[in-house]
Amino acid sequence: MKPVFFGVAATLLQGALAANIPWAGSLLATHRATCSETFTSISAADFVAAMNPGWNVGNTLDAVEDEGDWNNPPVIGGTFDDIKAAGFKGIRLPVTWAYHFTSQSPDWTVDPVWLQRVSDVVDMITSRGFYAIVNVHHDSWNWFDYTQPSANVTQIEERFYKLWYQIGTKLACKGSQVAFEPINEPPGTTAEHGAELNKLNNVFLQAINDAGGFNAQRVVTLVGSGEDGIKTSQWFKKPDSKFKNPWAIQYHYYSPYDFIFSAWGKTTWGSAEDKALLDTDLASVRGNFTDIPLIIGEWAASPVATETAARWKYFDFFLRTAAKYNTATILWDNGADFLNRATHQWRDTVALNIMKNAVKGTPNALPESTTDGSATSQSSSAYIYHKLNTAVTDVSLPFQLNGNTLQSIRLTSTGKALAKGSDYSISGSNITFKSPFLSTILTPGSPIGSLANLTLSFSAGADLLANVLQYTTPTLRSTSSALPATSSDLHIPITWPGANRPATVKATKSDGTYLVDDWTQWLGPLQQGRMTYSGQWDWDGESVILRSTVLDAVRASGKSTTFMIEFYPRVPGNSVNYTLTV
Ligand SMILES: *[C@@H]1O[C@H](CO)[C@@H](O)[C@H](O)[C@H]1NC(C)=O
Ligand SMILES: *[C@@H]1O[C@H](CO)[C@@H](O)[C@H](O)[C@H]1NC(C)=O
Ligand SMILES: *[C@@H]1O[C@H](CO)[C@@H](O)[C@H](O)[C@H]1NC(C)=O
Ligand SMILES: *[C@@H]1O[C@H](CO)[C@@H](O)[C@H](O)[C@H]1NC(C)=O
Ligand SMILES: *[C@@H]1O[C@H](CO)[C@@H](O)[C@H](O)[C@H]1NC(C)=O
Repeated sequence: MKPVFFGVAATLLQGALAANIPWAGSLLATHRATCSETFTSISAADFVAAMNPGWNVGNTLDAVEDEGDWNNPPVIGGTFDDIKAAGFKGIRLPVTWAYHFTSQSPDWTVDPVWLQRVSDVVDMITSRGFYAIVNVHHDSWNWFDYTQPSANVTQIEERFYKLWYQIGTKLACKGSQVAFEPINEPPGTTAEHGAELNKLNNVFLQAINDAGGFNAQRVVTLVGSGEDGIKTSQWFKKPDSKFKNPWAIQYHYYSPYDFIFSAWGKTTWGSAEDKALLDTDLASVRGNFTDIPLIIGEWAASPVATETAARWKYFDFFLRTAAKYNTATILWDNGADFLNRATHQWRDTVALNIMKNAVKGTPNALPESTTDGSATSQSSSAYIYHKLNTAVTDVSLPFQLNGNTLQSIRLTSTGKALAKGSDYSISGSNITFKSPFLSTILTPGSPIGSLANLTLSFSAGADLLANVLQYTTPTLRSTSSALPATSSDLHIPITWPGANRPATVKATKSDGTYLVDDWTQWLGPLQQGRMTYSGQWDWDGESVILRSTVLDAVRASGKSTTFMIEFYPRVPGNSVNYTLTV
């Protein structure tokens, strides 16, 4: 076909799609970008290996509607310096485009200012030696959602093509360190949805190839429904062989759901069963795509939502398992979880160091913590918990040494070494912190909260911290109220001595049955009747929050309900009850 101008091509392309044939790339040949830069070809396997481990600039250019609209200010180059210093090799740059279109069908013009901003941020990333993946992000739940009954799929394909043609044109001459990902977590629950997505992967490839420049050689990370490993395994089909782009598959992994999202009181992780499930998940994706480079483009265990020792064990095991199945990983960081971009500080330096060592294959010593589903309390060797107004005694904590030996224990703040024998002793893989030493930290006048950290160094792998934390159970200003007549979130005033967050919240109706998710009665004592963080309960500096959906559930049940708000450490008695009466 002979070259025609863009607007005309759109009309023809629509016909091409209606007939279910691939987009006619040559139509747009007159608009192909040409580049004066050089491009060093890279295979998809080398690309994903080179960007491992990677970090997501989360909640930033993907914010709805604009960069800066969520919890992060516009990204600055210095943030990528911090990421580089932390040892990451690649950056995934999620970008939401939905609110940056300046025209409708058929051109779907993207604001050139936004295209320039994305291009500039890509340069900030690659100028620091990172590999990068640029995508189309929350558009997936907006105009891109072809699973809606009312969706005009033809128009979605048209818009997707036009968007990627413009991104491809703008970024056409970026080097081979820049890869593209067609769409973040595209919806899809059926084989038909999966088939449409396979088509859209091809539409994306056609668009970037039509845009010219180096795009025909550029690495792409293609996706299956939800960027979910199982659905990708079920429905993903290889792209049309006419495209020569090196390609990998990207999928996301936030599992097990209950641990990662703090649902149903699942504050523990690391049993043999937990590990087997994770291994099976990653092995299955690898098993379905034995010869295709794989990258887990999002994963995390957030310090906000997970218990510390469980999180450290999860980081270690997840990263080693990904490596075992030759799968690269990119940590999701929403800006509130890992790097504090304002202060340049990592909120969980131990997790970061566990990651660095796990990626290298160096064994880490790890804290032990409860994994037994039938337990009635939860221990954690990430803490030396001390209850206010109780005697200071020796504290013995178990660790998993994983072939390492303990080299030293130091006060984190001063670096002063503890004396083996008098300050601590070792028995097998247990470390006993002696009461005379602990009494130098836990003095009669010591406040509540974290009083000191101890740095545990081993013969290899990450240093661990043991946080000496004095606690007392937080108090509620009042312990009951009548169920409000109107439906909105309920803020229950609380004072937070020491612990500043709940571990979980259990909701029991006056007849003894559970308010939500009654099936949790079949779980262990630490999980029965517990609700889900964020969607059902939350907290802030002054209160524990029950979501309006929970109040609606009380109203629907017609029964007074007691909310048992539990704190860390999860030991009997470290909780307060609040009752909503109807
Ligand atoms: C669907 O989208 C196409 C392409 O934009 C458009 O031509 C067509 O009129 C749309 N159909 C409906 C029913 O809106
Ligand atoms: C492919 O994925 C499916 C779905 O997760 C899984 O049941 C199956 O075992 C996988 N196949 C292989 C060979 O791993
Ligand atoms: C380690 O401590 C646990 C209790 O946390 C105890 O059951 C075990 O016997 C101890 N092992 C050694 C070698 O001291
Ligand atoms: C101990 O470390 C934790 C986690 O890094 C931190 O939140 C806490 O403030 C530290 N405690 C002290 C006394 O510095
Ligand atoms: C708090 O409520 C739970 C569940 O109803 C109950 O088992 C527990 O005994 C209560 N605790 C106190 C201190 O009343």
